[in-house]
Amino acid sequence: MSRNAEAVAALVRQRAGTDPVAVGLILGSGLGHLASAVDGVAIPYADLPGFPHAGVSGHNANLVVGRLEGRRVAVFGGREHYYEQGRADAMRLPLEVLAALGATRLIATNAAGSLRPDMPTGALMLLSDHINFSGLNPLIGERTDARFVPMTDAHDPGLRTALRAAATAEGVTLHEGVYAWYSGPSFETPAEIRAIRILGGDAVGMSTVPEVILARFLGLKVAAISTITNMAAGMGTESISHEHTKAMAPLGAAKLERVLRQYLQKME
Ligand code: HPA
Repeated sequence: MSRNAEAVAALVRQRAGTDPVAVGLILGSGLGHLASAVDGVAIPYADLPGFPHAGVSGHNANLVVGRLEGRRVAVFGGREHYYEQGRADAMRLPLEVLAALGATRLIATNAAGSLRPDMPTGALMLLSDHINFSGLNPLIGERTDARFVPMTDAHDPGLRTALRAAATAEGVTLHEGVYAWYSGPSFETPAEIRAIRILGGDAVGMSTVPEVILARFLGLKVAAISTITNMAAGMGTESISHEHTKAMAPLGAAKLERVLRQYLQKME
């Protein structure tokens, strides 16, 4: 753990208390509501040295530490994406801080385009695995041998089983599939989407994969859920835009919140 992360974790403890955090949650575009449901303290990223600066619109740049369904959680109201500054490791320090606060699990959420007709706008998809279509990696430049992170079962099987059970208990359909990370910020072309389909992608988005790699590097168990906000380029008739993403994210957000709350209630 870097000294920086220890120092930021100490700051967080000063403001939000010293009880260890059990789970970290990263909220994707248009999914910020959950942060306000936490009974705890919201700390602006600007108060935390090394945290992302200006967020993307649709994100709320606070770290909220407190209780949700009685569990101690740390909720990242926004993430920095690779496309903002060309830094694939932009979320490294925040995730190091999460680990320093005691968390052993991370659940990431995002908005994504669907490549599967049976998974329309408003659907939820649990990531069974991912394809790093960008070729980028947040561990480039890491000098220790810890950089050679195994990525088999990177999306933790136990965590996925528990999230599946939570969805079933809530009567929420949770699709499962492979997420392809595209760097953004431009959206994909229809030809790229056809290529991703052939390669085995079920959904496409501009985030999450770096965080999954970093989480595994840090020894955190990780799982991720996409909210489908559109059919991917060339697959549907809806327009694809950031505005559309933000407008459609709430369709899945309410279901996602129920699944996450149920997961936290039953968590061992
Ligand atoms: N592509 C990439 N990222 C996205 C999409 C998409 O179609 N929808 C929401 N985020």
